Amino acid sequence: MNDLHFKRHRRLRSSESMRALVRETHLHKEDLIYPLFVVEGENIKREIPSMPGIFQLSLDNLTEEMKEVESLGIRSVLLFGVPKQKDEVGSQAYCEHGIVQLATKQIKRDHPSIIVIADTCLCEYTSHGHCGVIRDGKVDNDESLKLITETAISQAKAGADIIAPSNMMDGFVAAIRKGLDEAGFTNIPIMSYAVKYASAFYGPFRDAADSTPQFGNRKEYQMDPANRYEAFREADSDIEEGADFIIVKPSMSYLDIMRDVKERSTLPLVAYNVSGEYSMVKAAAQNGWIDEKQIVLEKLISMKRAGADLIITYASKDVAKWLSE
Ligand code: PBG
Repeated sequence: MNDLHFKRHRRLRSSESMRALVRETHLHKEDLIYPLFVVEGENIKREIPSMPGIFQLSLDNLTEEMKEVESLGIRSVLLFGVPKQKDEVGSQAYCEHGIVQLATKQIKRDHPSIIVIADTCLCEYTSHGHCGVIRDGKVDNDESLKLITETAISQAKAGADIIAPSNMMDGFVAAIRKGLDEAGFTNIPIMSYAVKYASAFYGPFRDAADSTPQFGNRKEYQMDPANRYEAFREADSDIEEGADFIIVKPSMSYLDIMRDVKERSTLPLVAYNVSGEYSMVKAAAQNGWIDEKQIVLEKLISMKRAGADLIITYASKDVAKWLSE
């Protein structure tokens, strides 16, 4: 044809079948973890204004939602609780009849094969909205660990399959592992929010979980978005302390970190596609500016390509539908 020496990459892109044959990464329904916001009360189905399609649900409405989730082929849910009463020490987080504990029992009773992951943090339960207890105007690390461990144990007692601590206190994996083991839950894994940045992308979540800090911010415990090596230290310490899964959060602006962490560890890596990332896509789609389906599938496959094995995403139901088409 010609005497030029160049490579014909287009040979492997010549048809959909050829492209499918050489595709390197795949997205499966099994990869999806769907977050749910459960609230106390009855007959509540309150859409979060900044997160179209996502609702705060009371237990009666959770029943419907879970039927849909299971019928779509989603196997795992991540539970966040929004209690009626908040206090200084977040007592509802570790109360036997707390909303997450009740929701966990209900889901495990009605859908035993669904994996229930309990988010373990205090921010949704404290009156000040911080992820731990306050001493002298600061979040006290070691005092917080005690209550966080108590929360994890009570979630395990309620039947949670996985404990997912998101509080970013130092030593939370070691403390929770010890607490779970001593309480007889040696087989309950910890999915650690090991690498969690202090991100503005959590804004809509704080509306959903009603967990905006009432003073200050979370920069003394969540990570600086400018740092890469700090992510290695955070991941390494959680692995050493016994984490079973590692989460990197947020996802879209942190794909480099995801790849880095994947290369340091053989543990299952989880991308948290956070609220702000969901809301941006929804808003643009509602304006007719982008193709929502194509954009969502592209961003999720980019997380898989970066090394994520699992993805926590508010778009799970849509994605499960699209994957079945
Ligand atoms: C609780 C927690 C947060 C998120 C998950 N667990 C909020 C925060 O740290 O402020 C954010 C999730 C999201 O934005 O989707 N500590």
